[in-house]
Amino acid sequence: MNNKNKNGNDTIENIESEKNVVGTVISDDVSPSFEIFRFKAKHDKYVTPGSLVATSVSNNIFLVGRVTSSHEYNPHESVSRIAPREAMGIIPDYPGEELSLTIYRRYQAEIIDEVKLVDGDYKIYSPEKMPKSGSEVFVPPQKVITDVMGLEVDPEKSLNIGTLAVSLAEEEDIPISIKREIIQRHVFIGGTTGGGKSYAARVLAEEIHKQGIPIIFFDTQYEFVPLTEALGGTVLVPGKDYWIKLSSLTETELLDLIPAITHELHVSLLTKAFLTLKKGGPAGVPQTTLGVSPSRDNFGLRELLQTIQRIGPEMDAKPNTVDMVVARTRYYLGSYSFLGAGFNWQDALKPNSVVDINCKRFGRQSLQFILASTLRELNELRKRKKINPYVIFIDEAHLFVPQDESSPCKQIIRESVRTGRHHGICTVLITQSPMDIDKKAIRQCNTRLLFAIEPDQLQSIQGVRADATQEMIDGLPKAPVGTCILTGTYETIKHAIPVKIRVMENPEADAGKAPDIFSEVSG
Ligand SMILES: Nc1ncnc2c1ncn2[C@@H]1O[C@H](COP(=O)(O)OP(=O)(O)O)[C@@H](O)[C@H]1O
Ligand SMILES: [Mg+2]
Repeated sequence: MNNKNKNGNDTIENIESEKNVVGTVISDDVSPSFEIFRFKAKHDKYVTPGSLVATSVSNNIFLVGRVTSSHEYNPHESVSRIAPREAMGIIPDYPGEELSLTIYRRYQAEIIDEVKLVDGDYKIYSPEKMPKSGSEVFVPPQKVITDVMGLEVDPEKSLNIGTLAVSLAEEEDIPISIKREIIQRHVFIGGTTGGGKSYAARVLAEEIHKQGIPIIFFDTQYEFVPLTEALGGTVLVPGKDYWIKLSSLTETELLDLIPAITHELHVSLLTKAFLTLKKGGPAGVPQTTLGVSPSRDNFGLRELLQTIQRIGPEMDAKPNTVDMVVARTRYYLGSYSFLGAGFNWQDALKPNSVVDINCKRFGRQSLQFILASTLRELNELRKRKKINPYVIFIDEAHLFVPQDESSPCKQIIRESVRTGRHHGICTVLITQSPMDIDKKAIRQCNTRLLFAIEPDQLQSIQGVRADATQEMIDGLPKAPVGTCILTGTYETIKHAIPVKIRVMENPEADAGKAPDIFSEVSG
C-alpha cells in the first residue's frame, strides 16, 4: 500500500495482501442488491453505524458501502427458549459466538461508490455493479476512505476540522480535512444551544485564517472576540469605531428607522430627499457650508436634512411641515449611534485579517440595519474588486434570514449565498433554531455541520441532510457536545460523515464556557 504512483500518491496495488476482512456477503430476500448488501460479521470483527466497508466484484473493482444497521441472531435467546429456562431456573449453557454454529451478527451496508483499480491507482464512480454473495467484506484503505468522502489529502490545502466519529459517540483517528474550496459554497452550522456550534465555527475560522482569507465575525454574543484577539485581529464596536453610512440604507430601512414619520406628505418629502441624494442630485442649501460636496454613496444626516429643506418648497410643503420632518429625522437618526461616517473596509480586509463587529449591546432592529448595510457595502466593494475575498460568520442567523417573515437582511443574505461564490463572498450561517431559518438560504450553503438538535427541530434539517441515513439523523438529538454530522453536495462533501470537532488551537479563546455563577456569589 505504500507504493507511489506517478503523482507521488500512495497506491492501493497491494490491497489484497493488506485486507482487513470483517465478514462475508450473505444472500437473503433483500441482499445483495444494487442498493445494499448484508454481511455476516466474523466473530471478532465489529463495525459501527457509518463505517465504510468494501466488497470486491472482480479483481479490479470493489464497491464501497456504509454500514446502516445491524442485527444479532441467537436462537438460544428466543422467547420460547428463555421462558422455559426461566420457569425451571435453568442457567443458559451454550457456546458463544466464536464457537457457535447458530449465533451471528448481520450488518447491512448501503452502497455509495464503486472503485476501479487502474495501473496501481484507482478511480471512483457511481455504483453500477451488484455485490456477490459469498464475497469477503473488508475495510477499504484509508486513502480510499478520504477520497470517497470527498476530503482533501494535501494538508496545505485543507481545513482540518477534526476526526471521523464512526458513530456519533465513538471517534477514530481518521482526520477530517475538508477541501478549502468548500468555503466558497457557504457553510451552515445548526444545532441546539451548547452543542458546539460556536466552538466549531471558531475551529473553522482558525483553519480559514491559515489560508489567508480575511474573516469577519458579525458577533452578537461576544463569541468571537477572544479568538479575534488571539489571531491578532481587530474588534470593532458600532458607534465607537464602526459606523454605517446613511447612504447604504434602503428607502424602506430609512423609514423604519424614523417611526414618527407616517403622514403621506412627510413620508414623500423624506424619501424624495433621500432618493435625490442617492441619485447624486443636489445636496445642501448653500453648498459651500458643507466643505465637501456629498457623493451619492457617501452622504450623512446633515446632507439629508439640508436636502429636505431645499426640496420642501418645491413640493409645496409648508415651512412648519418641513421643520417638523427635519426635527423628527434629526431626532431619530441622531439617536442611532451606529449611523455615521462609514468604515474603510479596503484597509481592514488585508490577507490574514480578522475583524469582529462586536454588536453585543444592540437590539434586534439595530442589528438588522447594521448587518444589512454592512453586507450591502461589502458585497458592492467585492463585486468591484475593491476588497479581498472574505468569509463572514453570522451567528443567530435565524434572526437575519427568518423563515416566514421578511427582514432587512433577508434579501441580501439570500443573494450573498446565491451568487457569492462567483464574487469570493463566503458566508457561514450559524443558528440554534434551524426551524426558524429560511430554508432556501440554508440549502444554498453547500457544507453543513449538524449538531445535537431538539427532536422537534429534526424535521427542519431534512432538506440539508444529503445522504445521511435516517439512523444518523435520528441519533442527532443525543449527539455528544462537539460532534456533528458533516453533510454537503457533490462538489463539497460527497457523503455524510459523523465528525468529532477538534480542540481549538487557541483554547484560551473559547468564549462559550458558561461562567461559574456559584463561585461568583460565594465571594
Ligand atoms: N469540539 C469541542 N471540543 C472541546 N470542547 C467543546 C467542543 N465543542 C464545544 N465544546 C465546549 O462546549 C461549550 C459550548 O459550546 P458552544 O460552541 O458555545 O455551543 P453552541 O454555540 O452550540 O451553543 C464550549 O464553550 C466548549 O467549552
Ligand atoms: Mg453559540
